[in-house]
Amino acid sequence: MILPHISIRMISAKHSRRWSRPDQHCKMRVSWGLLAFPAAASAIENGINGWLRYAPLPNDQRPPNLRLPGAIMALSTNKTSPVYTAGQELQAGIKSILNQTLPLYHEPDKWLGSTILVATTGQSHGVKPATTLADDGYLLRVRPGNVVILGQTERGALYGAFDYLSRIAQGRFSDADLIANPDAPIRWVNQWDNMDGSIERGYAGASIFFRNNTIPKDLNRVSQYARLLASIGINGIVVNNVNANANLLTDANIDGLGRIADAMRPYGVQIGISLNFASPQTLGGLSTFDPLDQSVISWWTDKTNRLYKRIPDMAGYLVKANSEGQAGPLTYNRTLADGANLFAKAVQPHGGIVMFRAFVYDNHINPADLKADRANHAVEFFKGLDGQFLDNVVVQIKYGPIDFQVREPASPLFANIPQTNTAIELQITQEYLGQQSHLVYVAPLWKTILDFDLRAGDQPSLVRDVVAGRRFSNKRGGYAGVVNVGTNTTWLGSHLAMSNLYAYGRLAWNPSQDPQALLEDWTRLTFGSDPLVLGVVTEISMASWPAYENYTGNLGIQTLTDILYTHYGPNPASQDNNGWGQWTRADHDGIGMDRTVSTGTGFSGQYPAKVAEKFESIETTPDDLLLWFHHVNYTHVLKTSKSVIQHFYDAHYAGAETAQTFPIAWESLRNKVDTERFNDVLFRLRYQAGHSIVWRDSICQFYYNLSGIPDGTGRVGRHEYRIEVETMELKNYKLTGVNPLETASNLTAVVLVSDHTSGEATTKLNFDSGNYDVAINYFDLIGGKAHYKAFLNGKLLLEWVGDLEDKLGHTFSTKLDGHSATRVTIRDVQIQKGDVLKITGVADGNELAPLDYIAVLPQGVVD
Ligand code: GCU
Repeated sequence: MILPHISIRMISAKHSRRWSRPDQHCKMRVSWGLLAFPAAASAIENGINGWLRYAPLPNDQRPPNLRLPGAIMALSTNKTSPVYTAGQELQAGIKSILNQTLPLYHEPDKWLGSTILVATTGQSHGVKPATTLADDGYLLRVRPGNVVILGQTERGALYGAFDYLSRIAQGRFSDADLIANPDAPIRWVNQWDNMDGSIERGYAGASIFFRNNTIPKDLNRVSQYARLLASIGINGIVVNNVNANANLLTDANIDGLGRIADAMRPYGVQIGISLNFASPQTLGGLSTFDPLDQSVISWWTDKTNRLYKRIPDMAGYLVKANSEGQAGPLTYNRTLADGANLFAKAVQPHGGIVMFRAFVYDNHINPADLKADRANHAVEFFKGLDGQFLDNVVVQIKYGPIDFQVREPASPLFANIPQTNTAIELQITQEYLGQQSHLVYVAPLWKTILDFDLRAGDQPSLVRDVVAGRRFSNKRGGYAGVVNVGTNTTWLGSHLAMSNLYAYGRLAWNPSQDPQALLEDWTRLTFGSDPLVLGVVTEISMASWPAYENYTGNLGIQTLTDILYTHYGPNPASQDNNGWGQWTRADHDGIGMDRTVSTGTGFSGQYPAKVAEKFESIETTPDDLLLWFHHVNYTHVLKTSKSVIQHFYDAHYAGAETAQTFPIAWESLRNKVDTERFNDVLFRLRYQAGHSIVWRDSICQFYYNLSGIPDGTGRVGRHEYRIEVETMELKNYKLTGVNPLETASNLTAVVLVSDHTSGEATTKLNFDSGNYDVAINYFDLIGGKAHYKAFLNGKLLLEWVGDLEDKLGHTFSTKLDGHSATRVTIRDVQIQKGDVLKITGVADGNELAPLDYIAVLPQGVVD
């Protein structure tokens, strides 16, 4: 059996979606990962400690004359104080990394020798930072035998302690004298957890916050999550889904939320909650939820007061209103500002803030209207409200105008509401980016947005300066990252995906940092400092976003995933001809949305003049956003001198080829990475390599069928090393179509004739004798676990089960399509001309052992 041992066991349960969404028929998987985890660096590397493993530092990475202070002095006796936590963290970390136990004191007169001092600036015993620290900022001074860590706030002190520990965990012992201030005050994460324990767009098991419509007793994982978040400077978390359930506000649940806040408080992470705008009616029994109605105002004021009574340091609220079927103020002809201000007034006496989402759009727009454009909606809804939001409202804006696509221009809204506090919403959970079953290091994408200069008033106006409040002199602002960790011990469902969470926090703290440098820090902390490991993880991670963009959707055409179902595999046709407005406008002649002012939807005119001018013209629009802004013929020539269609073909082949290198590069780390994580990552990278070919072929075939323009190099549709299973000798198998058609090679697959049977597909191999990799493409659905065997001349080559739903976390499909299409590869098989290859399949449930094709690949050939 070639498949590696997989260590993460999951039991899956199905939950139907209950709200009206384009993908409402999709089944969500909820997986319960293993809950056991050790407190410190684990013998079994199951990922639970993330980058805070504090692995013992090898001797050759310790300075020979290392002089550590004699004790830790963390100046707080209050166990819920982050300063107290910092002391414990330092003691445990140093013990684990350096095997030295430093005594820990919490009162100043207990120890007079050399120390690691952790305190707030108010208690600093004469040590004064040269410049004033910003909120949450810290000073770190490292000298031989003496370390001073001072926070402007208690949690600032904890951040300083994590910084110091991160240095020594990476073998950096040099003297330091630094002041670190966060770029923005709001550095939050959002969880899209539902109260039943499922997570919207979560790919790592069930919720750690909710179970069976209540808050579980054991909140150990919640504390552990807070620890990870604090270590990267995150100071707030909204714990429930933006599609919020009003029942969160019952008295029992308010108490449960209080327990969550208690679990996170020692790490300085304040909690917030998402609100359902209609709660006064659905939960409170009022006849209305009109934001200006006095009974509604009183209802919210009362609920807010109850919440703050239990959670005095609650961060505030997050509101998704009049968006995708959610209730909102527009129902009563009130403005979105009226809606936001209702909550702002309620939390204002408690020091809370309201994050009000700008993801407001009409999802029933007419695709036949060439002037209609969902991308226009946010500015249309919000621009006129600038200046009307109260001071403690922050408008939370997704980075691009549509929805977390593989490439989008920065949302023009950042430049259109200068008198309003804004925050950028990024997505760590890879909803449209391979759902953690594909490695995609997303920080470089975020960086293109954060560094984008909007040229408001023809002045430098980087998005990161806007959300920090600097550009328009706003008091609040910052970052919201949708994370969606679950009970899986790896948190995100994949070890390598954790670099995204790490980089998110570090960028929210300081967005001018280099994504590769952050990745390298994360890699050293996660896998150690072996240069080979560092090199491989860096190389594949940095190549991953460009590769994913290449093999999914390029030239600014969006991700081309199935937007009406799982958001996972390819289905380019799903983008068009519906009210969701993620249109590509692809027809026989051309592709792309004309968003110009002169002939299109006018979207480009929402940017300040200089940027608008650039995007208005095809000549000055960069190729990677060409089809976002312009509709062109497939034969249109790009700046690279290639035609659009040839670029599509070439990019998809190049992207899939890059993905083939990932498992090979990772395999070079055998014995350099612990077996547990080595096998888990290898399995996923092999899967990704196979699925990237599904993407490549589906997209190329789709646009070839549509345009009728062949690939200049003849690859598309020609597969000389493939044998279509429908051409093999079949026993108990029958032909079937798949949907979309192009997700099967030759547009056809085979399935067993019934769900109680087994069958065979046999063929003679007419290839020259030699060594080949044999790839078998099949479909792995949810709802059954078919059994397969492959034989060469009667000798078993490979046996496998269609059980990917137990091993990967993405949203699975019940059908034969681009989500379920996958492959296994048997390496280095010796084949003689005329050998007989046979595959047997045994049905299970509704998985009728579907097969698509076999590829017999000479060494080095990707197909
Ligand atoms: C996307 C996502 C939804 C989510 C929505 C939002 O559309 O698919 O699951 O609810 O964004 O951000 O509100």
